[in-house]
Formats: sequence, C-alpha cells, structure tokens
Amino acid sequence: MKFFIDTANLEEIKEAHALGVLDGVTTNPSLMAKEGIVGAENIKAHYKAICDIVEDKVSAEVLSTSYEEMIKEGEELAAIDPKIVVKIPMIKDGVKAIKYFSDKGIRTNCTLVFSVGQAILAAKAGATYVSPFIGRLDDISSDGLQLIEDIVTVYGNFGFTTEVLAASVRHVMHLVDCARLGADVATCPLNVINGLLKHPLTDSGLEKFLADAQKLS
Ligand code: E4P
Repeated sequence: MKFFIDTANLEEIKEAHALGVLDGVTTNPSLMAKEGIVGAENIKAHYKAICDIVEDKVSAEVLSTSYEEMIKEGEELAAIDPKIVVKIPMIKDGVKAIKYFSDKGIRTNCTLVFSVGQAILAAKAGATYVSPFIGRLDDISSDGLQLIEDIVTVYGNFGFTTEVLAASVRHVMHLVDCARLGADVATCPLNVINGLLKHPLTDSGLEKFLADAQKLS
C-alpha cells in the first residue's frame, strides 16, 4: 500500500518524507488556499517546491471546469515537473480531459468521487488514480469504507489498472481499514501518518526496557 500525504504545507511534507515511507503528495485548492498561495506563478512555484522534496507523484488540481481550460491548465501543471499528476474533478468535461491526458501518457487523479459508477467512468477514461472521499461520505451518514470495498471489487472484476486512492482519510482506523480492503493508496494528513506509530504498550514497554537498561551498565 502506498502512503501519500494530503497537504500543501512544505514542513509537513518534509516531516513525512523524512520518515522514509512517503510515496507521494495530494493537494487541492482548499489546501493551497490554507497555505496562502495566491496567483498562477506562486501556485506553480509551490508545486515545484513540493516536487523538490519528494521522489514522485504530486497531485496538482486544475481550477477550471471546461474541457478546453482543463486541458490547457493540466498541460501547464504537467510541464512544471515530471512528478506532477494532474488532478481532475469527476464531471463530464473532466472525464473527457482524463481520457485526453491518458492518451498522451500524462498521469491523472480523478477527484471528488463518491460512487462506484463514477469510479467505473474514471477507470474507463484511463485515470491513473481514482479518489473516493471516505470521510466526506461518513460526514453525511453514508459508508465511505463500503465505497472503497465496492470499487476494489469492481476494478478487480475487470482488471482495471486505475489505482484506488482512498482520500478524505480522517483517522488511523480509516487508513487501516482501507489497507484491509485493498486500497492501493491512502492519502492522509500528517497526524494520521504519525498516528500509526502510537500504541500505549509500545510506550510503557520502552519505558521499562530503558529503566532495566540502566541496570546493565
Ligand atoms: C484528496 O485528494 C483530498 O485532497 C482530500 O483527501 C480531501 O479531504 P477532506 O475531506 O478532509 O477535505
């Protein structure tokens, strides 16, 4: 299973990368706005700065919604660095744009996916990744993890190569359940990645070992 970090904060990306287990980064317009990144040139520079930290797979989202504009914007994003994955929303023009980029060999991440039908469309269009948002489904009393399970099953039925990228991951159990269900990737905030480290028995066990280690010298 691959781990992506879901942030546009450079320090958080550096911290996750330093752990040695990071496979990529996802951003979205809200995360970029949170960092105060304003204007086309600053946005491009920020994506370049992210690409300079990690080895590969930096999702950069288009801001437009028409086919022509998404193509133009996506090509500009892809030109920033070979590590860029063009992130495109699940709308009709978005599906067409994913097909266009897929035919050109440019990687895409189909975002804002909330149903198996949408995931099938994304795979048929040749998306590299499909991003079902599990936390946002849970927020409206729907079952985000069931969606992950269903997409993994359907993709397996037909041998679709699109990777299931579980998004809107809110806590450690989301991530663990996504792993159990066979999601290819989970993108999480830094606190979820760090949360994987934690267990009270690890803390108390280490405390005891360190106390006993004093007796050995
Ligand atoms: C995924 O690519 C999105 O950026 C993200 O996971 C959305 O998460 P949220 O629902 O916590 O905003």
